[in-house]
Amino acid sequence: MATPEMKPSSIEIRSDAGSFAQEVVGLDVRTLSNEDFGQIENAFNESGVVYIRGQTLDPEDLISFSKRFGAIESHPRQEYALEGHPQIHVLSNIKDGERSIGSAYAGDEWHTDLCFMNSPSRMSILYSIEIPFDDDGKVLGDTLFTSAANAYDDLDSEMKDFISDKRGFMQYNRRQEIKRLERMKDHPRPPLSDEVKALTPDITQPMVRTHPITRRKSIYVNQVYTFGIEGMEENESAPILKKLCDHVTRQDRIYRHKWQVGDILMWDNALTQHKALADYRMPQRRKLIRTSVTGTEVF
Ligand code: SIN
Repeated sequence: MATPEMKPSSIEIRSDAGSFAQEVVGLDVRTLSNEDFGQIENAFNESGVVYIRGQTLDPEDLISFSKRFGAIESHPRQEYALEGHPQIHVLSNIKDGERSIGSAYAGDEWHTDLCFMNSPSRMSILYSIEIPFDDDGKVLGDTLFTSAANAYDDLDSEMKDFISDKRGFMQYNRRQEIKRLERMKDHPRPPLSDEVKALTPDITQPMVRTHPITRRKSIYVNQVYTFGIEGMEENESAPILKKLCDHVTRQDRIYRHKWQVGDILMWDNALTQHKALADYRMPQRRKLIRTSVTGTEVF
């Protein structure tokens, strides 16, 4: 019996010089074969950050690509969903009249997405539509990544032992209220509704996270959402959390993504942390759309 011929792969996956991120070259994600998808998913599980430049996607294309990795989940803040697409979250400083079309200057401190939910998303996939630049043409609004897994590997054994069975408090609501008040002038935000608050109570998560597929360990506390360590007073836990966060975000671990229009950039929330630089203001416009793929409970 004749076997179906396998098309040779034309993609290349390469390390971004000197960093843990990987770039996929030679791919239009709208025509992604199963073989190429398998290679990309392996690179993603290993490194935690993968990007693909030069894509031309409509919202449905982004949804189809995202679904290759698993079910898509909607962001709890539906006021920033793309019209007609509740699964797509808009990140943007653009306004339509008085209305902000997306979450403005979001994620500008080190964090991992949805760590305040019991089952945080496995991954986030961002697609760039408008990228800001200054008068000299310098691109603004870069997104920075660090590998919390590499940071765990580098941790001294005393700290590894200490955090091995500890849990950190994750608080979404408190943080959102601080942000809301900071952003009131440019981008007024309504306070969180009772419904969103009910979806996001304070929870604890393990301070060491095991990757659900590769079993690699990483540090799972971050500057934005982790406010304490279970069983410790705040004055005892604060310096430990600061030490861990400084260690995770050390300069030599960082991959800095310089955006181009048409980039897809995806990251693993079990391995990495990120922050977006809010170094642009109107009339410098930034618009990206994001999907999130469901993940497992943290263990
Ligand atoms: C985020 O998802 O935290 C923001 C990323 C970005 O806007 O670059």
